[in-house]
Amino acid sequence: MSRSDTSNPARRIFSGMQPSGRLHLGNYLGALRQWVRGQREESCIFCVVDLHALTVPYDVSVLRTRIRESAALYVAAGIDPDTSIVFVQSRVRAHAELTWLLDCITPLGWLNRMTHFKEKSAKAKGNAGAGLFTYPVLQAADILLYETTHVPVGDDQRQHIELCRDIAQSFNHRFGEVFVLPEARISKTGARIMSLTDPTSKMSKSDPNPNGVIGLLDPPSRIRKKFARAVTDSRTEVRFDPERPGVYNLLSIYGAVTGESEAAIEAHFEGKLYGHLKKEVADAVIALVEPIQKRYNALMEDPAELDRLLDRGALRAADIADRTLKRAQEAMGLR
Ligand SMILES: Nc1ncnc2c1ncn2[C@@H]1O[C@H](COP(=O)(O)OP(=O)(O)OP(=O)(O)O)[C@@H](O)[C@H]1O
Ligand SMILES: [Mg+2]
Repeated sequence: MSRSDTSNPARRIFSGMQPSGRLHLGNYLGALRQWVRGQREESCIFCVVDLHALTVPYDVSVLRTRIRESAALYVAAGIDPDTSIVFVQSRVRAHAELTWLLDCITPLGWLNRMTHFKEKSAKAKGNAGAGLFTYPVLQAADILLYETTHVPVGDDQRQHIELCRDIAQSFNHRFGEVFVLPEARISKTGARIMSLTDPTSKMSKSDPNPNGVIGLLDPPSRIRKKFARAVTDSRTEVRFDPERPGVYNLLSIYGAVTGESEAAIEAHFEGKLYGHLKKEVADAVIALVEPIQKRYNALMEDPAELDRLLDRGALRAADIADRTLKRAQEAMGLR
């Protein structure tokens, strides 16, 4: 039995990404890379959260493709599906079921405070569905089903993990100790990668401008072009200066990819121009994504194997999730 099958390990890691678009450099540096690192020491569960992707407008056949693509990218980036559990959220019914139970105990005021909802519903211009509003409750259910202790995420998810803790605490207080309280695990570098065209907004799958986003599957020539066009400013010296968000973002990407310190990076670029910085950042990112792309292409050649892997992941996940759901149902008086 692998460590991931144990029902109550000391540390349980859970995280997911929405197949709402193609995974990008921010997803990798903020989340996926951390997932890969913890795998050997901790019990890890990684999910393609497809139910979340229904909360924004989407094309049915594109979603189908993105679900498989996201799962293959997890594995290509280094998630070992034998050590960790990798699965698609909608295959494990407990996620939707626990969400309803939690929906019924989550005060509306808590959801009203979520900045994500404010931002995304503003973009939807009056067409947002109720799912966009309650999406953080689904996210809480995702996490709580697996007795998760740590959730490796980018900086933008801090508020949702806090909400998840509040919901768990309120449930436990009213119905008895059922849920483990999780903590966000946010990396020191790469936790908030910004758009290359608008460095005051985070890089996002849902950004309608593809030039701001470096896709993990972008060919090297496109990556070079996007960095060459990245917004900077009219100054010249290459410095970590938060007042100059474009250059700051390029340097942060360089630092997150190479692992070098701010001082070493500034020394390295001393006397060099922005064009030079852009070229070196592009080189570093291409060296990072090329092996991932190679493994991804190999995995996509055998879709039946990928499906088998995901079927197995869903069975392993459901085994844990169903037990937690049952305990929640019992505590609430449904059993
Ligand atoms: N720009 C970013 N920098 C660092 N981490 C990020 C960034 N964008 C997303 N993440 C992290 O990637 C993970 C997956 O998030 P998510 O699936 O919501 O991606 P997204 O790019 O925000 O997509 P969407 O625009 O559809 O919300 C989360 O842990 C999130 O915090
Ligand atoms: Mg997001």
